[in-house]
Amino acid sequence: MRQIFLILSQKLKKSKQKDKITYMVILAIDTSCDDTCVAILETRNKKLEILSNVVSSQVKIHQKWGGVYPTLAKREHQRNLVPVSKKALEEANLLEQGEKKKIKIGKLKGIFKKEDYLLKELENFLIKYGKPKIDLITVTIGPGLEPCLWVGVNFARALAYFYELSIIPINHVEAHIFANFIRENSQFLIPNFQFLVPAICLVVSGGHTQLILMKKFGKYKILGETRDDAAGECFDKVARILGLGYPGGPVIAAEAAKLKIKNLKLKIKLPRPMINQKNFDFSFSGLKTAVLYDFKSRPQKVGESKEYIQTIAAELQQAIVDVLINKTLRAAREFNTKSVILGGGVVANNELRRQFREKIKKELPHTKYLIPDIKFCTDNAVMVGITAYSHYLRGERRDWKRIMVDANLTLK
Ligand code: KG4
Ligand code: ZN
Repeated sequence: MRQIFLILSQKLKKSKQKDKITYMVILAIDTSCDDTCVAILETRNKKLEILSNVVSSQVKIHQKWGGVYPTLAKREHQRNLVPVSKKALEEANLLEQGEKKKIKIGKLKGIFKKEDYLLKELENFLIKYGKPKIDLITVTIGPGLEPCLWVGVNFARALAYFYELSIIPINHVEAHIFANFIRENSQFLIPNFQFLVPAICLVVSGGHTQLILMKKFGKYKILGETRDDAAGECFDKVARILGLGYPGGPVIAAEAAKLKIKNLKLKIKLPRPMINQKNFDFSFSGLKTAVLYDFKSRPQKVGESKEYIQTIAAELQQAIVDVLINKTLRAAREFNTKSVILGGGVVANNELRRQFREKIKKELPHTKYLIPDIKFCTDNAVMVGITAYSHYLRGERRDWKRIMVDANLTLK
């Protein structure tokens, strides 16, 4: 009798736990590359809502170099993190002016070893404002530019220590995949993965080009990746060769879109690197070199002409799209996947989005095709927050002392 009662009360406890409203507010941080990103999400059961999403772009600073310069990016993150966090808390209505208080900065000093500026800024912030109603902190720990990652991670560690909160460490590539489930201006859910897996995920950005098999929710296998430059890096480097500025992807796409096919006089054919190889790896540095040789072989007048820029931009974009579609669809066929999931800055490209959609519809009509809203393809912290929540639901969280950067972190 006693045993039956025990079993019954355990069952009741479990169902109560299931029904319990998991209301909490998550503060998410990403400083993996050249954007300082802070977002605040509110969660209620499995529903999420964006309270704020602040991205401070360093484009103007890196434009001069035609790419991201890590030490400069690190310095900008140090400058930006407090104002960006303040703005995110303000927009989320969570910033409260507390009574001015003295704080012990001994431990904070230990966290920010060589970051005096950020330490001072944070100290002033903590003196001025009371503890905001946040329940969890999450931060990208890798992959990315190591000096940049450390700024965000130390900032997250300091906040978690000071506010006595746990941290969930996030893989930036997984966050790009989860960006697919973000909905702006409404509540959204972490989906039921049963209908999506096995899935082929393609993450293409300025730092990564990876083809990943998601076997089950949260279980990954890297099938292939770039052996040299990432696809976004190729766009960026070619834009620099052509004198189009940084970041290269959007400007190359804009030039390509201006091309009038009817008046085409110039013919340029670029290679599709590794497209016929049976593996799932990529290589984009040869493509950039091919552009450089072509550009150098032209008389200056031609190289600077609108027609040349538009023609080579369109051909480069098409070469990258061809390789990405070919390898991704082959992987989807080989692993008989239920879905193809894209992510990363490069998938903001309209041609890539259109051509993937058409090819999948035609060749793999029963496969679901997921692509994030354009706004959430490039770096942001909302994607970090939603990924963290999925980890939280699986019981993961850590003490701030156990959070470290891993610039070469891979999905497993
Ligand atoms: O994901 P992201 O913001 O940062 C990294 O994690 O690297 O991606 C930035 C990259 C840059 O290389 C940029 O040129 C590229 O994404 N990108 C694009 C487009 N918008 C951004 N590439 C092609 N077409 C676009 N419309
Ligand atoms: Zn990224």
